[in-house]
Amino acid sequence: MSDESKSGFTRRDLVRGALVGAAAAAVPVKAPAAPASRAIGPQAVAIALKINGKIEKIVVEPRVVLADALRDRIGLTGTKVVCGRGACGACTVLVDGVAQCSCLLLAAEVQGRAITTIEGLKTDSRLAPIQEAFVAADALQCGFCTSGMVMSCKTLLEKNPKPSREEIREAISGNFCRCGTYPHVLDAVERAAGLKTASSSLTIVPAWRPGSDGRRLEEDVRVAQATAEALELEEA
Ligand code: FES
Ligand code: FES
Repeated sequence: MSDESKSGFTRRDLVRGALVGAAAAAVPVKAPAAPASRAIGPQAVAIALKINGKIEKIVVEPRVVLADALRDRIGLTGTKVVCGRGACGACTVLVDGVAQCSCLLLAAEVQGRAITTIEGLKTDSRLAPIQEAFVAADALQCGFCTSGMVMSCKTLLEKNPKPSREEIREAISGNFCRCGTYPHVLDAVERAAGLKTASSSLTIVPAWRPGSDGRRLEEDVRVAQATAEALELEEA
């Protein structure tokens, strides 16, 4: 008995099977059609944005970025635009809880997402702990980077309530401060995280002020640790 009759398959069966398989492989599989995306613009369109828990309806051209919509159309000027190209982090807002550069997002594309700006952090006219910590740690000078910096720090603390200094540095690595407030920002995040108390981080430094008779009056003032370190560096 041949091998073919033992297995029950003839050579002809095998050839026929191969041809059927090849024909099946050659039949193009129709991919499910992608949902057609609706083109909008270039003329202005009506959009609704959910900002700080409130719906804001505006009419903008589809090319308008979220940062400009916030500032110029809605009046939320706490968000700053510095580079306008995603390089400095000044325009950082939260989109569904994630820190993002609002100069890189089209306003029309974030409809239906929850957007939080610096103005949305306070509750009942009280600043959020991270904002209070920035004030207490003197973590700002010109303020252009500050709202973006605060938003990045807030996201960090929500994910990681007790971050290390290294983790804070990493979290703000996309936020540039031209005034060099970085040591104060680290201080602020540690305060907000409860890793440093206000009193433990205040240091007494000598200062002076002009007296009424024009003489120089020496007096001690309490400043944030980071400020004391910066003064020491200046004097050195
Ligand atoms: S203004 Fe958006 S990253 Fe600089
Ligand atoms: S405080 Fe001026 S750029 Fe940061």
